[in-house]
Amino acid sequence: MAKINILNQDLINQIAAGEVVERPASVVKELVENAIDAEATQIIVEICQGGTEMIKVTDNGCGMSREDAGLSIKQHATSKISSTDDLYKIASLGFRGEALASISSVSKFKLITKDKISLAGYVVEVENNEVKLGEIGAPQGTSIEVSQLFYNVPARQKYLKTQVTEFNHIVDLFLNFCLAYPEVAWKLIHNNKPVYQFPNSTLQTRISDVLGSEIANNLIAIDFVMNEIRVKGFIGKPQIARNNRKLQYLFINNRPVNEFIIAKQVKDAFSTLIPKDLYPVYIFNLQMNKSKVDVNVHPRKLEVRFSEPQLVYKTIYNAVSRMLDEHDLTMKMKAGEEKGFVAVGDVFKSSKDTLQITNNYECTNPIKNKQSQITNNYECTNPIKNKQSQITNNNKYTNLNEKGNRSLHNQWRTGGSMQIEKSVEFNRHMIEPVNASEPVKTDSGFEFTLLGQLQKSYILIEVWNGIKIYDQHATSERIQYEKIKRQWQIGKLASQKLLLPQNIELAPIETRALQNNIELLERLGFELEEMSNNTFTVSAVPQFLVNHDIKEVILEIVGDMTENLVLDDKISEPLNKIFNMMSCRSAIKFGDELSEEGMKALINDLEAIKDNKAKYTCVHGRPVAVEFSYDELGKMFKRI
Ligand SMILES: Nc1ncnc2c1ncn2[C@@H]1O[C@H](COP(=O)(O)OP(=O)(O)O)[C@@H](O)[C@H]1O
Ligand SMILES: [Mg+2]
Repeated sequence: MAKINILNQDLINQIAAGEVVERPASVVKELVENAIDAEATQIIVEICQGGTEMIKVTDNGCGMSREDAGLSIKQHATSKISSTDDLYKIASLGFRGEALASISSVSKFKLITKDKISLAGYVVEVENNEVKLGEIGAPQGTSIEVSQLFYNVPARQKYLKTQVTEFNHIVDLFLNFCLAYPEVAWKLIHNNKPVYQFPNSTLQTRISDVLGSEIANNLIAIDFVMNEIRVKGFIGKPQIARNNRKLQYLFINNRPVNEFIIAKQVKDAFSTLIPKDLYPVYIFNLQMNKSKVDVNVHPRKLEVRFSEPQLVYKTIYNAVSRMLDEHDLTMKMKAGEEKGFVAVGDVFKSSKDTLQITNNYECTNPIKNKQSQITNNYECTNPIKNKQSQITNNNKYTNLNEKGNRSLHNQWRTGGSMQIEKSVEFNRHMIEPVNASEPVKTDSGFEFTLLGQLQKSYILIEVWNGIKIYDQHATSERIQYEKIKRQWQIGKLASQKLLLPQNIELAPIETRALQNNIELLERLGFELEEMSNNTFTVSAVPQFLVNHDIKEVILEIVGDMTENLVLDDKISEPLNKIFNMMSCRSAIKFGDELSEEGMKALINDLEAIKDNKAKYTCVHGRPVAVEFSYDELGKMFKRI
């Protein structure tokens, strides 16, 4: 082995730079952190060629004296801590005292700074380990320019990605800081063109600026304290969940960090509110005792360690879970914003007029007007007659279904064929109320008037302040899920004996899974016995699954469970999956024609569910109901 050498300082700095400075975005991060620590209220980040050519960060913070300016580029030179004690209650973003030393050892570096009391500013330039110091005219604050990053370490240059990729990393980081510090005014310039500019503002406005108004309008504010931890910020409603984690922002004592376990707690708290493969949006700042969070565990300070992690996780889970429980999560429709609305609106496009659905759909109050004539092929009991004008309508827009129930299901999608050749003259009778069903009040006190069923799929009702549309499958699925869950929690699911026991044969691996989970299947309401190798006789099934393919269901249940599923009171992830499957299979389907009583019962049962969070999303996380308030309708029709 070769003889041991003590490395010289320049080499030490370059090795340290390997840890701290991975790419241009890491330089931006260190410089911006310094600006924030210097209490700047304005920070400008200028970038050329994705940061490979030039990075400059200018702030209006406290600046440095001549002496500090010279010291700032030395290794382990920091004004932020001075004792071990300080290390365990860090209030600043920086503390390691190695960023400027590292950055200046792998770039052409120029720092200009002036503090409040100095008459002149100071400039420190570093190139090829040569340091030049001097005086210069400058405003208060600091500007640091880093050119030709890694010019003297070609090996590192090779690892840089394209300028576009490097700039994207910078943008992600920049926006993260913008959200963490809304009280600071920010500007990002790339190749001399401004990319982002935000004045100092509140978090809410900043979120709207950075993430757009769709996100900002679908957030629930959160401010929750537990275990001496304050969770402050916003969570996104289920409908804005994304299929990646990009819109998850976490700051711990204002420090942007990546904490996957916290992300998982948030996701768990959303439970079935969002599908498995989607991620909730959130912007959280966790404020906690600085001595309970160790920030000195990662050279780039991207991770932290909690002294009592379980408390932190529990607090997050509770904060999110409670907030969602307390909130009405019915999707509120905004004029023209949702595709669903546009589709319905399209129906009327060709008519350019608003044929009132309610006035036409049953025709029990015939419109009779000698001066106009409407020809239609509605299955109306009393056709509308009007000699002067003619409405040709091929839609089965109104009909009575076979059971004699009023139903709105029609071919709305063929709305294009609806034409009004001449407008119908106004007639008093047109504003007579339709023979809508009587208003009803559910067991839980929810009052509504049933308007009908649309496309054998949706239930339309009127409530005091607008209309509401329920997805009949999602509604029924949620009701079934809650029933299954309740039965499980108080014992076992109701089961029904089969008239003829049925034999099923499984593959060996499935047999093993079934044997491992026989107790679970019994609690779910199955009765089965192993006859011979791989063959089971099923003599009873859960009531929810009568008339379903038993083998298919059992296979779905044992699925990939090779291990014994623990049966405790907690509804674990795999068990939840089984409940979802059972509720989905046993629910009313899209296309099922419902009686008036059936629709009312569905709404009654859904509205009776206590848990608000669960009530308004199906088990896959899709919305169960959407609402158009009359205010919204007014806006859509430009009346308000
Ligand atoms: N933008 C700035 N404004 C004022 N002081 C600064 C600025 N940037 C760096 N400094 C000073 O230089 C020191 C060294 O910076 P740095 O190498 O990033 O280490 P750290 O931030 O960990 O202390 C800081 O402690 C601070 O005193
Ligand atoms: Mg620093």
